[in-house]
Amino acid sequence: MDTVKIGLCGLGTVGTGVVKVLQGHQERIQHMLGCKIEIEKVLAHDISKARDVEIDPNWLTTDPSDLVDHDEIEVIVEVMGGIDETYKILERALKNKKHVVTANKDLMALHGQKLIQIAKENQCDIQYDASIAGGIPIVRTLVDGLASDHIEKVMGIVNGTTNFIMTKMTKEGLDFDVVLKEAQKLGFAEADPSADVDGLDAARKMVLLANLAFKMELNLDDVKVKGIRQVTQEDINFADNLGYTIKLIGIASMDDHKAEVTVEPTLLPKDHPLALVNDEFNAVFVHGEAVGETMFYGPGAGSLPTATAVVSDLMEVIRHLRLGISGKSYVEPQFKRQLKADHEKFSRHFIRLDVEDQAGAFQEITNVFSENSVSFAKILQLPAKEKGRAEIVMVTHHISQEQLLKSMQALEKLTVVKRLISHYRVDGEE
Ligand SMILES: NC(=O)c1ccc[n+]([C@@H]2O[C@H](COP(=O)([O-])OP(=O)(O)OC[C@H]3O[C@@H](n4cnc5c(N)ncnc54)[C@H](OP(=O)(O)O)[C@@H]3O)[C@@H](O)[C@H]2O)c1
Repeated sequence: MDTVKIGLCGLGTVGTGVVKVLQGHQERIQHMLGCKIEIEKVLAHDISKARDVEIDPNWLTTDPSDLVDHDEIEVIVEVMGGIDETYKILERALKNKKHVVTANKDLMALHGQKLIQIAKENQCDIQYDASIAGGIPIVRTLVDGLASDHIEKVMGIVNGTTNFIMTKMTKEGLDFDVVLKEAQKLGFAEADPSADVDGLDAARKMVLLANLAFKMELNLDDVKVKGIRQVTQEDINFADNLGYTIKLIGIASMDDHKAEVTVEPTLLPKDHPLALVNDEFNAVFVHGEAVGETMFYGPGAGSLPTATAVVSDLMEVIRHLRLGISGKSYVEPQFKRQLKADHEKFSRHFIRLDVEDQAGAFQEITNVFSENSVSFAKILQLPAKEKGRAEIVMVTHHISQEQLLKSMQALEKLTVVKRLISHYRVDGEE
């Protein structure tokens, strides 16, 4: 095998990066693999569009069958995005015995298990490292690097847009709406930012990471998701006074073969490694029983960082082809899908209440918490802007979700409590 021919679906941000990496690093790639990689066909919407990369016009097509039914193409590299149409293209490619590399987390989070099954049935590889955290090789780290360990927790900043927004809000004291507009102007947020700011993009990545880390088959619906739209400057300032930074954090943890996966704004101690990850950067913190804590940091998106991950996946597929082990490296899920119940989910919480500023109010509130065995690490009481009101800000010790919900329900019934202003998870400290 002197040359492996590939079909590239998509020639946008990532696709042009893939062409650049293949052209710029051809000698090194050939040295590592012992064969050449040749682009045979490229699928795009508009083949007359000017491209920011040197391409052979004969490559371009708008017809997916020119790639997936091509006799000589052995690997399909999918960097076009989309779900339903893309699923059909990749399904057909796998059934035609073509291996697949994809950067598409939306597709993998929704249909990844089905595609992996089809790949197995056809002795094909499907690799998707670039779909999670762009340039950080986190999939290979979980599957290979930490294969011998029992992974207990994966925690990370896996969405660059929200990290950019939270960083600006924290450092510059600006409100969410102002920073969002700036992020859109700079190209860090899309015109419709909901998938990012409402946490869905991070949830899609976290479910993929949880399944790899815990050898389970969890679904996107198993992830509890809360975005960053409601985070205010007051929340950030109170968190800061108490020694914390707020970030959108994905957390997947497993105890007794039961999992919990969440994506939510989370308070981290200011000196926690993830609290120091700023701007559009991503980082994933992995806790293994034997290895302890490890952290992987880097660009979570962008043309060349993502393309590097795509081409590394492509090289892995070609190595398997040359060794005759394609489609043989899948690890079956080891544990059945089991989720933690509310009484098994433990964490610390930041709670901010708007209360009547009157004698005995504080006592009534602390009574509710002590009836539910909730104790506090930190409490602040401050006068509110409105006359006759006060704000109480608390950070609990570790409590169960059940204790939290019962306490919240009881607080709602107290006349001295006017409103639960905000509530966030606190993580990253014992
Ligand atoms: N951008 C990043 O930093 C990044 C990071 C990690 C993962 N990803 C993932 O990588 C994938 C691609 O992202 P991107 O930012 O490169 O997207 P993009 O810039 O919008 O490029 C998409 C490309 O696919 C082509 N295309 C889309 N739908 C098509 C269809 N139905 N038929 C034919 N061609 C089609 C487009 O053709 P035309 O050029 O002719 O319009 C374009 O070349 C997505 O799944 C994304 O989630 C992106």
